[in-house]
Amino acid sequence: VNIRITNTNGTEQSIESKAGMSLMEALRGANIDGIVAECGGSMSCATCHVVVDTDWLTATGEISDMEDDMLDCTATDRDPGSRLSCQIELSEALDGLQISIPDNQF
Ligand code: FES
Repeated sequence: VNIRITNTNGTEQSIESKAGMSLMEALRGANIDGIVAECGGSMSCATCHVVVDTDWLTATGEISDMEDDMLDCTATDRDPGSRLSCQIELSEALDGLQISIPDNQF
């Protein structure tokens, strides 16, 4: 699954990751700066915030009520494309996913 990332400094990169893992795990595994994921994916830290390109939002699936609440607590203001990366499971349907990393996670 190819993921295209716009970093906080505006540079772009792409990584290859496996279907079945979370987007957060893929980003952490690739040492992408700006993804803290303090809680390890239990939806209680909001430091794995990413902004998904609007063209890809539907493909990333529904936002649960709990994620929705957490997204109101992100360090960088919530954007219409905001998601918690630990709540997005990678699949072939997300091949080419375009995201950007928000400026701050704290
Ligand atoms: Fe903590 Fe996603 S890793 S909310």
